[in-house]
Amino acid sequence: MKDLKLNLKDSVVLISGANRGIGNAIALELLARGAKKVYAGTRDLGAIDATESSYEGKLVPLQLDVTDEASINNAAKLATDVDILINNAGVLLGDSLLNSDSLNNLKIHFDVNVIGLMKLTQAFLPSIRSKAKGAIVSISSLAGLGNMPVIGSYSVSKAAVHSIIQGLRGDLTNESVAVIGVYPGPIDTEMAKGFEMDKDSPQAVAKSIADGIENGVEDVFPDQMSLQVEPLYMGNPKAVETEFGMYVAPVNQD
Ligand SMILES: NC(=O)c1ccc[n+]([C@@H]2O[C@H](COP(=O)([O-])OP(=O)(O)OC[C@H]3O[C@@H](n4cnc5c(N)ncnc54)[C@H](OP(=O)(O)O)[C@@H]3O)[C@@H](O)[C@H]2O)c1
Repeated sequence: MKDLKLNLKDSVVLISGANRGIGNAIALELLARGAKKVYAGTRDLGAIDATESSYEGKLVPLQLDVTDEASINNAAKLATDVDILINNAGVLLGDSLLNSDSLNNLKIHFDVNVIGLMKLTQAFLPSIRSKAKGAIVSISSLAGLGNMPVIGSYSVSKAAVHSIIQGLRGDLTNESVAVIGVYPGPIDTEMAKGFEMDKDSPQAVAKSIADGIENGVEDVFPDQMSLQVEPLYMGNPKAVETEFGMYVAPVNQD
């Protein structure tokens, strides 16, 4: 059986959307665990201050917009030594699939969360494959395992991410590349600021992801809610569908 464990010490990592939220917390956690270099993908280079002395120059801001092919290609030209890719960048627009704007929202979600993730993965796979061991970590969501109608089109995009994770795992079965899926519940970042519920910290998620990479865990459930949903999903996915189906949004009458 394939050994999925990776030593984070001396690893070279690229994280998309690392200027804030979960991506930024992952960057700092991996540096703390001895990563040799962390490329912090950011749309705006001014959004990251990499000068903090404790980073020892190992945090390297990299301009990266996953919807912009030139930006992806340029990042791949600059960061040729990556062995771990963390697909973290994402957007969320709350909606109902019944609303008139849901098709437009679906496109926005797919452009970033799905097509952007695929393009970035394809651009960095050659570098990852060239290493003795590597990993592709992609952040889906609990909403990718069961549609939450209050975030209907976002859920569809995160289900697509879950399917990409499964597909890549199959494609790379015989290679030394771990394919890790992450399925967070509500986390206290800008993205979830409109949701009134208990939320775990991005730092806790970052620790779980780092543990997952080091321990060879394929599916990471990184917070309190996801740890509760995991056994339910593993035993009875229909029950998750029913539970999440109760999270409904008001529907526009237009
Ligand atoms: N927070 C939650 O409750 C939760 C739960 C489950 C899953 N997740 C997932 O976790 C990941 C991180 O989310 P978060 O909570 O940290 O959200 P966040 O604080 O809103 O951060 C999102 C990050 O993605 C970046 N981004 C957006 N569009 C991009 C693009 N086109 N190209 C490159 N970067 C882009 C943002 O950059 P800018 O600053 O330039 O906008 C930002 O750095 C996402 O995939 C999200 O879907 C979050």
